[in-house]
Amino acid sequence: MRMKHKLILPILLIAAACSTPEKPEKSTGLVTTSAMVVSAHPEASRVGKEILKKGGNAIDASIAVQFALAVVFPAAGNIGGGGFMVARFADGSVDALDYREKAPDAASPNMYIGETGEPMVEKSIRGHLACGVPGTVAGLADAHHKYGKLSWSELVQPAIDLAIKGVVLTEREASGLRNIQEDLKKYNTTIPDHLISENWKKGDILFQEELGHTLERIRDGGRAGFYDGKTAQDIVAEMKSGGGLITLQDLKNYTAVWRKPVRFDYKDYNVISMPPPSSGGVLLAQLLNAAADFPEKNWKPNGLESSHYIIEAERRAYADRAAYLGDPDFISIPVEQLIRKDYMKKRMADVDPEKATPSAEVGAGVIPAESDQTTHLSIVDAQGNAVAVTTTLNAGYGSMVVVAGSGFLLNDEMDDFSVKPGVPNIYGAIGGEANKIEPGKRMLSSMTPTIVEKDKKLFMVLGTPGGTTIITTVFQTILNVVEHGMSMQEAVTAKRFHMQWMPDVVGHEPGAFSASDSTMLLKKGHKLTLRKSIGRMDAIRILKDGRLEGGADPRGDDTADGY
Ligand code: GLY
Repeated sequence: MRMKHKLILPILLIAAACSTPEKPEKSTGLVTTSAMVVSAHPEASRVGKEILKKGGNAIDASIAVQFALAVVFPAAGNIGGGGFMVARFADGSVDALDYREKAPDAASPNMYIGETGEPMVEKSIRGHLACGVPGTVAGLADAHHKYGKLSWSELVQPAIDLAIKGVVLTEREASGLRNIQEDLKKYNTTIPDHLISENWKKGDILFQEELGHTLERIRDGGRAGFYDGKTAQDIVAEMKSGGGLITLQDLKNYTAVWRKPVRFDYKDYNVISMPPPSSGGVLLAQLLNAAADFPEKNWKPNGLESSHYIIEAERRAYADRAAYLGDPDFISIPVEQLIRKDYMKKRMADVDPEKATPSAEVGAGVIPAESDQTTHLSIVDAQGNAVAVTTTLNAGYGSMVVVAGSGFLLNDEMDDFSVKPGVPNIYGAIGGEANKIEPGKRMLSSMTPTIVEKDKKLFMVLGTPGGTTIITTVFQTILNVVEHGMSMQEAVTAKRFHMQWMPDVVGHEPGAFSASDSTMLLKKGHKLTLRKSIGRMDAIRILKDGRLEGGADPRGDDTADGY
């Protein structure tokens, strides 16, 4: 790699944190001594804390938090979607659970292509045809079966209470609901009256009685309470009424899968993350392998040199994503080769320190033989078990289809497949053969629930929503802590940017780059475009004295809670 760099002293992004010029105080998030939950909603974090206080472990808490999020955060919390869980237990063992949605059996590669060959983009994003077979309830039941300590009903009950007794809306939730009124009417054959009001406002109470009863069936029947009986029949009736594909057989056949986490070293750290069908762990390894060769510690966070090399690494890694990644149960993925340190070294060898590489000139690497509404939660329990979960409906409020009679939203995860080679999905990502639609296949994801060890001990638990920006947000947050010495909260709050090969633009939050660095990045040939906000990171860092520091993203209602 050709590299010219000036040494620039690291600065802390949050000036308010500096109490003395010599030794700035870190601005930390909530610090607790024993256990912590960080999630997208204060009520869900409270539920998780109460489960931990009752003697539940981190897996128990993550199950209860996910059910609670399905009620209090309907934009992304779900039982009608899917997700991934990465866990590291106090004895150092690790596991990963894939409960990603699957394409229904009647799905086909050309299902979103019109008669004239044009992609029918809306159909993969909104409405019944966009829905994959949900995986969340199967996943949570399997996680409980393998690792749970408290009873299943104790974990589901808090969500039932929230659904039936009602949830007080935050301003963000109220505005989210106001914004989807037209879509709810457009994409539902039975109007979900409980969600309909032009006037939702902060402090209103949202009652979800049907959802509460669905959760009662799940409480009493486990996975059968969703994939069988009334809930399953309601899903199938909903599909029939709106032209969707999911059948009773699809629901019966759905299984979650335990997978081996992607694991790799970054300097003194070991990173444990999600393998395919997420692209998250593989790309995170590629990006950190590239960063291991930068003098990142000496560069200003988001400064000119750091941003240029990070953008170029992201450009190359996302080109590989489009070519190589998909469902490992359908295609062979060269994971070991992609995450090898020398692979990214070769990919970065042609980076010009003075000039952006046009994405059109970057293809996939040569392998030696062989949207943004998702939500993340991070949990550490008093025994030191850690769980990172990212779960999603895909776009905000998923397909907008509410299952009549059962009261929950279904995902629009089919859009994460490559609808047609070269046609971008809602995240602007394009894909090819590896991620084409096939019956029973899982669509490629970017979700990156991640756990970091330092010196073989638990160090950080993190993850975020944000579609394809998830991986770069996790990557930049890790660099913020390990290279720039930020506290967890500072690293989470810090401004972000994102490049994903195609489209050939660098999206950045307002203030991510200084005015002079933006000018220089433009001069190098990077195309910059403003994005209001990137990600909602929820993370936990283990401090040297063993206490836990939460980083809850101020971009949302995200809250750290613990004791
Ligand atoms: N639906 C977003 C993702 O899985 O990456």
